[in-house]
Amino acid sequence: MEKLTFQIRVADSTHKVYANQIAAEMENSAKERGTGIAKRSPSYLEAKMEEGKAVIALTGEGKWAGFCYIEAWGHGKFVANSGLIVAPEYRQFGLGRKIKQEVFKLSQAKYPESNIFGLTTGAAVMKINSELGYIPVSYSALTDDEEFWKGCQSCINYEILMSKNRQNCLCTAMLYDPKSKK
Ligand SMILES: CC(C)(COP(=O)(O)OP(=O)(O)OC[C@H]1O[C@@H](n2cnc3c(N)ncnc32)[C@H](O)[C@@H]1OP(=O)(O)O)[C@@H](O)C(=O)NCCC(=O)NCCS
Repeated sequence: MEKLTFQIRVADSTHKVYANQIAAEMENSAKERGTGIAKRSPSYLEAKMEEGKAVIALTGEGKWAGFCYIEAWGHGKFVANSGLIVAPEYRQFGLGRKIKQEVFKLSQAKYPESNIFGLTTGAAVMKINSELGYIPVSYSALTDDEEFWKGCQSCINYEILMSKNRQNCLCTAMLYDPKSKK
């Protein structure tokens, strides 16, 4: 068995070869969990890599192991760390936490004044976010950028979100306010 060491770094265009695999795993994992997800195409993930707005983890042998990306909303007032995914064979080794820590650092370097937020149904992500200083908030504390909420249209729970007038849904909203740390 190969030794479990990972290289975790800001993704660039050389990582575009992994985009299909990552997008497919995101979709598979959401189906297996039976939860909703804002679907992302391989080309969307490639753009994130080219823009330096993603973190990728590879094994020592160059196999894809994990990924997460940054999206800026409301003219950069809000930043979301989205699409955290670890390949099933590398879960439960602390990789998800390390990727999230790196993408959090990258978000702060790129958008030091922004509120960082995420929507999740996952207990692991809630735990990692809490460790980073996020707190649970109501949806009204998130961005009102229409483009962000359009991302939810591909989620199986979109009707629930709209029936609640976009004020609530199955995901827990969590937010890190940089001002609260100053
Ligand atoms: C969620 C995910 C990224 C976690 O990655 P991971 O590498 O297994 O996570 P880690 O090993 O870093 O675990 C971080 C913490 O979360 C906990 N955790 C991990 N998976 C968990 C689960 N399914 N349920 C509850 N807690 C979990 C771990 O115990 C760990 O806490 P601890 O160190 O105090 O024990 C991974 O399971 C995954 O890719 N899932 C499918 C996609 C997904 O759900 N993405 C999140 C969308 S918002």
